[in-house]
Amino acid sequence: MDKLVVKGRNRLRGEVTVSGAKNAAVAVIPAAVMAGGVSILENLPCIEDVRNLCATIEKIGGKCTYLDKHTVKIDCSQGVAYQADFEEVQQLRASYYLLGALLARYKQAEVAMPGGCNFGKRPIDLHLKGFRALGAVVTEENGVIKARAEHLKGASIYLDQASVGATINIMLAASMADGVTTIENAAKEPHVVDTANYLNMMGANIKGAGTDVIRIKGVESLKGAQYTIIPDQIEAGTYMIAAAITGGDVLVKNIIPKHMDSLTAKLDEMHVKVDEGDDSIRIIADTPLQAVNVKTMSYPGFPTDLQPQIAALLSVCGGRSVLTENVWDNRYQYIEELRKLGAKVEINGRIAVIDGIDHFTGAEVRATDLRAGAAMILAALAAEGETVIDGVRYIDRGYEDVEYKFQEMGADIRRIKG
Ligand code: EPZ
Repeated sequence: MDKLVVKGRNRLRGEVTVSGAKNAAVAVIPAAVMAGGVSILENLPCIEDVRNLCATIEKIGGKCTYLDKHTVKIDCSQGVAYQADFEEVQQLRASYYLLGALLARYKQAEVAMPGGCNFGKRPIDLHLKGFRALGAVVTEENGVIKARAEHLKGASIYLDQASVGATINIMLAASMADGVTTIENAAKEPHVVDTANYLNMMGANIKGAGTDVIRIKGVESLKGAQYTIIPDQIEAGTYMIAAAITGGDVLVKNIIPKHMDSLTAKLDEMHVKVDEGDDSIRIIADTPLQAVNVKTMSYPGFPTDLQPQIAALLSVCGGRSVLTENVWDNRYQYIEELRKLGAKVEINGRIAVIDGIDHFTGAEVRATDLRAGAAMILAALAAEGETVIDGVRYIDRGYEDVEYKFQEMGADIRRIKG
């Protein structure tokens, strides 16, 4: 398995360009299966998860053609199989969106239970509850979810929790149901809005995405569309934190500043200078940073997917910070790795108490999941000496050209193929 070797303490400088949003791409690609025509998806990140999803679509009979590194033509006009029950699907959490997409188009779907990042229980009961409310019979056999309906019929659905996946999956299925569906307590994340925008360009009738009530009027068929994916909020946040943790000065380009408000507010509180442009943010960290408290929440709150990265930063801020993880049950597995680099963190359930240290010290660590891996890179960039990060395949699932982008900003980081 590949490793990254980082020699720390270089102040990052210059510019970095953010790629398309992973969590939007992995919803929009399955949605393309619903069209009886050709879609062209632009600004897709060039990452493992996207390649795997395209391979899955090919395997069920669609055609995915790369027009360039970031643009894929998806043609499912000749139809696809409604079964995606093979191994590749299990390796990809977002393959659950194939359930909603295939159910919408064929009124039946059989999809292997998703895998993905490893941080505790990741239920999909709310997705299935939504499908059932639309009239589908849903069963599970040997790790494969099977959903089938004579007709899908619009319904009023209240989500017990504002789940991103359930909101998107129900939106997909309801787009081709008879009548009107309302999703209350819907997730408001930027990728929910991006998926709704793409579906609307395909001919769907979705209103309210980005608020907590989404109204979907079902249509009979959808056509292909040309669509540009939004920039990745989490990749952008990772680079903003990278600039801060190295005392750097970096212009992060291809960004939607509004999506970054919760992080910007925290960096500001820590005394990092944040200058917003129209589609860029410049981060300047030239004074000692101050500890702050952070609580993760669904959007527009502080994203759980930036929790490990901000923990790395808080570890080298002056004073004590309290970090609270409100979204996932068990997202602190990486803390053990951060401790190997010298971090002082005590965990009590969902709360991490972090006492700032002067600096990290290089060590051998491993990426326990995608964002945990990002946090290891950030800590390594700020560490005295050399850090070797194992488990880079997790990082490759979500960050395009990760070592090149950091090298461009002046980081001493290289990959060892393994
Ligand atoms: C999405 O996962 C993202 N993944 C995750 O990003 C992200 O951490 C998460 O949203 C929260 O923002 C993708 O978009 C592919 P949820 P998702 O359903 O949709 C509970 C990354 O690093 N829940 O919003 O699976 C669940 O246990 C990844 O890029 C249920 O109880 O998350 C959790 O506590 C990791 N039942 C909370 O809701 C359900 O049926 C939020 O989960 C579904 C969820």
